[in-house]
Amino acid sequence: MCGIIGYTGKEEALPLLLGGLERLEYRGYDSAGIALIEDGKMIVEKRVGKIRELVRSLWGKPYKGKTGIGHTRWATHGEPSTENAHPHTDEKEEFAVVHNGIVENYLELKRELESEGVKFRSGTDTEVIAHLIAKNYNGDLLEAVLKAVERLRGAFAFAVITVHEPGRIVGVKQGSPLVVGIGEGENFLASDIPAILPYTRKVIALGDGEIADITPEGVNIYDFSGTPLTKEITVVPWDIISAEKAGFKHFMLKEIYEQPKAVGDTIRGLISSGSELPFSLKSFRRVLIIACGTSYHAGLIGKLWIEKYAQVPVEVVFASEFRYSDSPVSEQDLVVAVSQSGETIDTKFAVNYARERGAYTLAIVNVVGSSIDRESDYTLHTHAGPEIGVAATKTFLAQLAALYFLASSEHPQKERLLEELLKVPSMIEKTLEDAEIVEKIAQKYMKMKDFLYLGRYLSYPIALEGALKLKEISYIHAEGYPAGEMKHGPIALIDERMPVVVVAPQDRVYEKTISNIEEVRTRKGKVISVGFRGDEKLEKLSEEFIPVPAVEEDLSPFVTSVPLQLLAYHIASKLGLDVDQPRNLAKTVTVE
Ligand code: AGP
Repeated sequence: MCGIIGYTGKEEALPLLLGGLERLEYRGYDSAGIALIEDGKMIVEKRVGKIRELVRSLWGKPYKGKTGIGHTRWATHGEPSTENAHPHTDEKEEFAVVHNGIVENYLELKRELESEGVKFRSGTDTEVIAHLIAKNYNGDLLEAVLKAVERLRGAFAFAVITVHEPGRIVGVKQGSPLVVGIGEGENFLASDIPAILPYTRKVIALGDGEIADITPEGVNIYDFSGTPLTKEITVVPWDIISAEKAGFKHFMLKEIYEQPKAVGDTIRGLISSGSELPFSLKSFRRVLIIACGTSYHAGLIGKLWIEKYAQVPVEVVFASEFRYSDSPVSEQDLVVAVSQSGETIDTKFAVNYARERGAYTLAIVNVVGSSIDRESDYTLHTHAGPEIGVAATKTFLAQLAALYFLASSEHPQKERLLEELLKVPSMIEKTLEDAEIVEKIAQKYMKMKDFLYLGRYLSYPIALEGALKLKEISYIHAEGYPAGEMKHGPIALIDERMPVVVVAPQDRVYEKTISNIEEVRTRKGKVISVGFRGDEKLEKLSEEFIPVPAVEEDLSPFVTSVPLQLLAYHIASKLGLDVDQPRNLAKTVTVE
């Protein structure tokens, strides 16, 4: 949450900072701001609202400074307001700070600084960082930052500039993400790689407890004691084209259409990196899958596959719940952390909890070099490319591909299973051919106030995911439920105003699901079904029918999830909502 960018080099910093902020906007968009050093002075501009408000406010202000920092905010401490927008400065406006994360002991530090006469101008935790650095400054920014960091507790990343040393930016990482981009005569800092992709593909992913000291001429990395570190430079395989909209109205729609490629690249990437895993699923007492949101739904499907193919018991837990449980984790457990960003703080903490107790940790992440990637014993990378829309789509299917790969790893017919998996991308393509049907249904139902999503077995997590997609981007209340559980309560909700989306591929629970559809119809609910093409029985029972290609039972989630993504997308888009940046959300959740 919150995006940070920093630039120092030979170019004017402002356009680079604003471009970077636009690419980081998915991380938060309550307010935005920049700070530049120009002619020895600190220039700070900030606005409430999206980056475009900031851009508008900068028209006619041709700042030429070549060193600067920028921020897009997802508010935690202090309401979204101009005072609370970043950058924050010290009283003399000689130091400016942009920050992502939370300084947990900020109240204590604020009281201490106030007792020394410091006047605070915002309600944020960030402002203490600016004052602490100013207080500790003695001619060397790095030294002042090291001293300030000693006093800070929490999970955070920040970047700071000062008028005393134009050309220098110091960035700190402790819990929240921060990468360094290496250019020619210019260098960058950013919360995420896509922010700097137009300028460089060479990055250093900072680890927790690390500080980057950057100037146009070079980059030095230190630990919190000030000891220099040698870090590896990674060349990122993405390019800027994959982070742009490429003619689609929204990133989410583009990303839905990228799913055949995302799944294909993930499968090929996993197979080519060696299909032998360095562990055996069967050697563990249990597998514990830990994740949040959409990644959690992928985990629920992974559980069914792993239990079927590897015959090992699997539990799936929300990372935010797991961390504060007394779960008896030990070296007999395999802990699988599923995360697109690899930075979700709840999942990251859960991985640490598991490692401390001796469990073997496996990450399934999309962002190479992210915290969870680095801190786990082994990683299966999903090769979905950058996902910009806040609603996860292509990374969900890529996670499913990785989980299927994992589940099949010890099956006697592993080769056959992988061959089947390789057919999935073309099945997704066929599914997308019927996108128009979904758009028409969206038009008809977009004004409804509630939706129920039902499914059984592998289709139950798909129902949960379909409901989450609708909620998060259209703000319509939606609930996902196991179809067989409906009679134990939610059936009371059904009347002629309730659209009920039923995921009903022809699998082992098909007939049972059909009975559940009858129960909905009897109560006058409007059935929108997703089923295999040519399933006349299902079509007749439904008000609306969305066909998907018939696939093997285990692969049905790859095709049934797609129309539900499209349904949510078209409803939100027709309602005129901000599909890629829905209210109150952020792509990467780095707060508890
Ligand atoms: C889903 O559309 C959301 N963006 C959200 O639920 C997301 O899946 C969750 O925050 C977990 O993120 P991660 O995969 O990056 O850990």
